[in-house]
Amino acid sequence: MSQLTIESILQEKRLFHPSAEFSQNAQIKSLKEYQQLYDKASADPEKFWAELAQQELHWFQKWDKILDWQPPFAKWFVNGKINISYNCLDRHLTTWRKNKAALIWEGEPGDSRTLTYAQLHREVCQFANVLKQLGVQKGDRVGIYMPMIPEAAIAMLACARIGAPHTVVFGGFSAEALRDRLIDGEAKVVITADGGYRKDAAVPLKEQVDKALAGGDVTSVENVLVVRRTGQEVQMEPGRDHWWHDLQQSVSADCPAEPMDSEDMLFILYTSGSTGKPKGVVHTTGGYNLYTHMTTKWIFDLQDTDVYWCTADVGWITGHSYIVYGPLSNGATTVMYEGAPRSSNPGCFWDVIEKYGVTVFYTAPTAIRAFIKMGEHLPKARNLSSLRLLGTVGEPINPEAWMWYYRVIGGDRCPIVDTWWQTETGGIMITPLPGAIPTKPGSATRPFPGILADIVDLEGNSVGDNAGGYLIVRHPWPGMMRTVYGDPDRFRRTYWEHIPPQDGKYVYFAGDGARRDKDGYFWVMGRVDDVINVSGHRLGTMEVESALVSHPAVAEAAIVSKPDEVKGEDIVAFVTLEGTYQPSEQLSKELKQHVVKEIGAIARPGEIRFTDALPKTRSGKIMRRLLRNLASGQEVSGDTSTLEDRGVLDKLREGA
Ligand code: PRX
Repeated sequence: MSQLTIESILQEKRLFHPSAEFSQNAQIKSLKEYQQLYDKASADPEKFWAELAQQELHWFQKWDKILDWQPPFAKWFVNGKINISYNCLDRHLTTWRKNKAALIWEGEPGDSRTLTYAQLHREVCQFANVLKQLGVQKGDRVGIYMPMIPEAAIAMLACARIGAPHTVVFGGFSAEALRDRLIDGEAKVVITADGGYRKDAAVPLKEQVDKALAGGDVTSVENVLVVRRTGQEVQMEPGRDHWWHDLQQSVSADCPAEPMDSEDMLFILYTSGSTGKPKGVVHTTGGYNLYTHMTTKWIFDLQDTDVYWCTADVGWITGHSYIVYGPLSNGATTVMYEGAPRSSNPGCFWDVIEKYGVTVFYTAPTAIRAFIKMGEHLPKARNLSSLRLLGTVGEPINPEAWMWYYRVIGGDRCPIVDTWWQTETGGIMITPLPGAIPTKPGSATRPFPGILADIVDLEGNSVGDNAGGYLIVRHPWPGMMRTVYGDPDRFRRTYWEHIPPQDGKYVYFAGDGARRDKDGYFWVMGRVDDVINVSGHRLGTMEVESALVSHPAVAEAAIVSKPDEVKGEDIVAFVTLEGTYQPSEQLSKELKQHVVKEIGAIARPGEIRFTDALPKTRSGKIMRRLLRNLASGQEVSGDTSTLEDRGVLDKLREGA
């Protein structure tokens, strides 16, 4: 990283207020109310969180100290005893919610299942007993490699119930990726399924587990539990492999939740940086429970009648925090969908919304861009009038994609919460509270109460309005990661040493560039590793890409730099086109002109490369690092294990 700050060039003037009706019924009803909460929390964050922890969660034993902060290591609710599975299940059973739908599940082939709180509780207790029977004890790690079926959530909650930290590995990852994560996490048991349905195919999972365990590198795994989902043939190794349904039948449904220490590890979740092996992000129990509970409640504005659907996979942090733990802790109805839009049913998401009357819908910008490309006739052909609130997460959303989401999916009536956060932060950090904070397309708006976010230069000094810089957090928060599993030094180096502590105060470095406008709204500009430097100006990727996407021909764009003798670096734009447009010299010229018009000559791409698809991670993030290699004619280097489709890279190479 150089000493320069990042320049911001995006101009976005549109402002959207929630309707008076929405605000009146909302958890947080006005900007004034938000501001009061924010000020109160900033003045004394510990007190703020402790009051909520007391009010909102069940503790077996109260803490002695709210926060023990030995930078960069935090402990929240020291010596408090709590169990997140108890908070997600048991405490609702003594209320009217006992027979409320906790989980509504829709399989890709169209099969479905609904579990009430009482039913989910029973399944979780039984499965917790299965784990115990296999010798899993408090503190043992459990690998979960599953499709999006109810058993994935049941497995997570059962682990939490007995205090065995889970490590969920996304079901789309390869056997090698799974093996590395099982080794690093020293998992004792792996829970999987024969397969799962994705895009009309039965994707094998057990087979991948067998591959991961073959060769003997994974020495910790003693047992493998297999859910029968697709019915495809699998090899069962006697003594090691067991069918879920067999064992589930043989145990009692009585399994009291283990009182866990607030700081006991709840899970490890691996996240990849641009270099090095994936980091095992460690989250603990009490603080994470509180943070996901509060953010779900206020940001998704949960009402008891809501049908809430987050389209993420449980293999990502979004699935952990906002499909399973946050919604269930609040006693909400959470929808889980196994499938993905596919050629046989590109409108399947809209079918799910219509079928269950989904009211709150949370998805990713990459999905929204794909919906735009598929055309608005698909959502228009369904009744989406049940929706009242929309959300996005995962990347900066281009203002034009935001507008499309607002108009076509939200029918011009649903607020959009653009939520900025990370695997490491555990929960949402910067976001509108939908009844209180007017939104601007492309901005995640304001920090959540209790989150002291700022934008600084490399010395740690706050930068002024509209100046780009590094996004940081100045005070610990309950949902923050506690360490990198097995590597506390890496935790310190990656997140706490880029920006030097000021007056002994450590700040959390998120690795994103951002600016704040005069209204205090944050605009996240992308990963600082992706920043480009043209003629001495550092530009974030998001703004130039948004300018390109605002042209009617462009569906998706990714910009990277390549070395240039004159400018230092020149911009290369990779562009995918909307259905009816064809690549041409003329269009290339037009797009360059369009960027000049939208932003200015400084951001004019030197080269436009048309492509059918962009290389993405399996969670949908564009891998600009690979494009950078291609643009400058280098071999693709570094870790490509998270790449979704290698064919995309080959095609891009051919086209080069
Ligand atoms: O660069 C930011 C981007 O995604 C990163 C975190 O990725 P991950 O740990 O996979 O978590 C994704 C789900 C929380 C961030 O550092 N990011 C996420 N949400 C946004 C975003 N960038 C801009 N706006 C967002 N709303």
